[in-house]
Amino acid sequence: MSDRTIARQVPLLLFFLAVSSTAQGQVSYSIPEEMAKGSVVGNIAQDLGLDLKRLKSGKARIYSNDKADYIELNKDRGLLIVKERIDREALCGQTSPCALHFQIILENPMEFYSVTVEVTDVNDNSPSFKKNDMKFKISESAVPGVKFVLERAMDSDIGTNGLQTYSLNPSDNFVLKLQNQADGGKTAEMILQKPLDREHKEHITLILTAVDGGDPKLSGTAEIHVTVLDVNDNAPAFTHALYKATISENAQKGTIVTTVSATDADHGSNGKITYSITNNVDKIHELFEINEDDGELRVLGNIDYEESHHYEIHVQASDEGGLTDSTKVVVDVIDTNDNKPVINIMSKLTTIAEDAKPGTVITMINIQDQDSAENGKVHCSIDDHIPFTLKSTSNNFFSLVTDDTLDREVNPSYNITILCSDEGSPSLSSSMTLSLHISDVNDNAPVFEKSSYEAFIMENNSPGLSIFTVKANDADWNQNARVSYLLEESSINGASVSGYVSVNAESGVIHAVRPFDYEQIKSFTFRVRAQDGGSPPLSSNASVKIMIRDQNDNAPQILYPVQTSGSVVAEIVPRSADVGYLVTKVVAVDVDSGQNAWLSYKLQKATDRALFEVGPQNGEVRIIRSIIDKDALKQKLTVIVEDNGQPSRSATVNVNVALADSFPEILSEFNETKQDREFSDSLTFYLILALAVVSFLFIVSLIAILSVKCYRWKRERMFYKSNGQLPVIPYYPPLYGDAGGTDTLKHVYNYEVCRTTDSRRSDFKYGRPSTQSIISLDTSGTRTLPHKSLLCEDSDDQVRFARPLLFLWCTYVCFYFPSQRDKGDILWHV
Ligand SMILES: *[C@@H]1O[C@H](CO)[C@@H](O)[C@H](O)[C@H]1NC(C)=O
Ligand SMILES: *[C@@H]1O[C@H](CO)[C@@H](O)[C@H](O)[C@H]1NC(C)=O
Repeated sequence: MSDRTIARQVPLLLFFLAVSSTAQGQVSYSIPEEMAKGSVVGNIAQDLGLDLKRLKSGKARIYSNDKADYIELNKDRGLLIVKERIDREALCGQTSPCALHFQIILENPMEFYSVTVEVTDVNDNSPSFKKNDMKFKISESAVPGVKFVLERAMDSDIGTNGLQTYSLNPSDNFVLKLQNQADGGKTAEMILQKPLDREHKEHITLILTAVDGGDPKLSGTAEIHVTVLDVNDNAPAFTHALYKATISENAQKGTIVTTVSATDADHGSNGKITYSITNNVDKIHELFEINEDDGELRVLGNIDYEESHHYEIHVQASDEGGLTDSTKVVVDVIDTNDNKPVINIMSKLTTIAEDAKPGTVITMINIQDQDSAENGKVHCSIDDHIPFTLKSTSNNFFSLVTDDTLDREVNPSYNITILCSDEGSPSLSSSMTLSLHISDVNDNAPVFEKSSYEAFIMENNSPGLSIFTVKANDADWNQNARVSYLLEESSINGASVSGYVSVNAESGVIHAVRPFDYEQIKSFTFRVRAQDGGSPPLSSNASVKIMIRDQNDNAPQILYPVQTSGSVVAEIVPRSADVGYLVTKVVAVDVDSGQNAWLSYKLQKATDRALFEVGPQNGEVRIIRSIIDKDALKQKLTVIVEDNGQPSRSATVNVNVALADSFPEILSEFNETKQDREFSDSLTFYLILALAVVSFLFIVSLIAILSVKCYRWKRERMFYKSNGQLPVIPYYPPLYGDAGGTDTLKHVYNYEVCRTTDSRRSDFKYGRPSTQSIISLDTSGTRTLPHKSLLCEDSDDQVRFARPLLFLWCTYVCFYFPSQRDKGDILWHV
């Protein structure tokens, strides 16, 4: 390259030299810097018009003031040659033009020539910066237009080879502005064109390039480091505008509900977020707390579902620069089963009658459970084994009703436990006990301990004696169970039962009203009624049989042989009778019964004890040895009959026995004459005859009077009825005779009833068994006999007619019978 430049320059120099040599003898050359060593600068010999010999002879040399020898002279060829590398910048700096000045000196003759070698610039230096990087710290808040002066680049070349311009890359935020300086140089300024955003790009690296004007152009670069300084231009921002969380009620203190988080694009303290709860009206602050550093929301107080089902928590995030954001946390509370059902009694009965119908409402209750859903669904129940049931009337209302009949006698009271439990898991329950009393209704009749009673009582008891006690129980209560005893009206042998017994209404003790006689009545039955005090009263009855026990109150009665005071009865035993001959049989009865009537016979006395024996059981009198002539004709035995009662009673009988073969023998022996006998017989015959006549007359007249009287009465009172005027007919028991073939025994009972005229007095009754006829007289003797009552209302004349007859009959009877007795008749029995 430099060769070409030289080629063009040479003619120019030659012309110039030609001009100047004439004037001053000097030569100028122009060479570019940095030519290689040995390069030819110029043909000085030719240009100075010297031949080579002269140069040699003249010892041509270069004289220079400069220390450095850049150029040397080749004498052989007459050329100026580059001896050292020539750096124009080192040689001249920025001075232009830059030339080397020296003289070529010749001797012999001394001649000198000035040579000027101009060194021209070559673009051998690129622009350069003193420092390769520049650092700036610019706040992101810097406004567009601010200038930042950049360092200048240096280029040693001059002219167009020198620094020409700058460029800046990239040019997003900044533009370059060049400013011409007075010295011709240029300063570069960086101007902020678009605002910086630290959050977008914190570090920006720009390349500043300085370019010179050479060909080719050379350049140098420097890095510009821009650090964007933060400004609090970003508010914190929550990641969600709304947070949702759930928490179960009663969650423990410290339980994390949720974590909110906010971000802040700023840096450092501008980006440091603090969380806080901003609610200020409700009690959120008592229930929740937030960790101000990490946004953890925790439970602080007692979360109660029943108080609030959900909470809204306003959370604010703020950076230290004072910028904030807020969000909302909605916390739903999940119910836990923490409330027992509550049983409220709306109404209740404490007492119910035992006849209450099934379905009677006893209690109404209302159930409340503050929990929700399953936790608040309540079921109630009661014990199965009681006659009650729980009915659900409507939601949470229950009524306790009877579902069966009640019986106070079985269960007088109930404790009804109502158990209510919810459906939570675990289930909570509560219970309540009602006590219910069943009030009595008279639904139970008294019940006798036995349906029939039997009791014994000794005859001859004292009146008022308590016989025994009946008892009836009533299952009811109080007045309904107060039993009183009553005698059911009935009759015993035609008389009212109250004449026999009475019953104590309170105690049920049965008393005998009068003495009983076993021989008259052996037992009787009546009914006792027990009645309670209810309204209406209930009653029941029981039959009572009273059995009268025999007492040995009757002595045996001898029926045979017949005992008379006047006459003698004798048994005739032939002397030829054998041992075992049945003399007679003592017959006795005892009206008592059992042991008391169990008779035994014994020989008490005898003329000759060795001759007779008496069968202890049957009363048979027998011969026990043969009769001998020495034995008296008249034998007298006394037989005692004893019953087996305690104490025993006895009776004796005399038995006369005649040991004879013929009847006259007996007569003579028995102290009776034939005359006596005949007299007695005839008298008896007449007396009987007279009695028969008088009796016949009396009866005939009586019938006549009655007929007349009754006929009249009937006619007069045809239309009347007469009550209470019925005649009382005296009772004559029939004659009682033992018709038992072999014996001629006659037993006569004769009862006579004599009444007093005063009907209020008790009856007198005489009963006398007798072997002979007996007459009864009115004890007073002066009273009239009851025959008056036999008559119909009689007129005076009729009575007058009847009275003598009656008197006659009575007199006769009274006279005859005692006389008969006194006479001491002997009745024979063969
Ligand atoms: C009911 O409870 C009371 C006391 O709690 C008790 O005295 C009574 O005996 C109970 N009644 C029944 C029928 O269980
Ligand atoms: C006595 O009770 C029975 C049932 O035990 C009854 O049939 C009868 O009628 C009652 N008698 C009276 C008189 O009440």
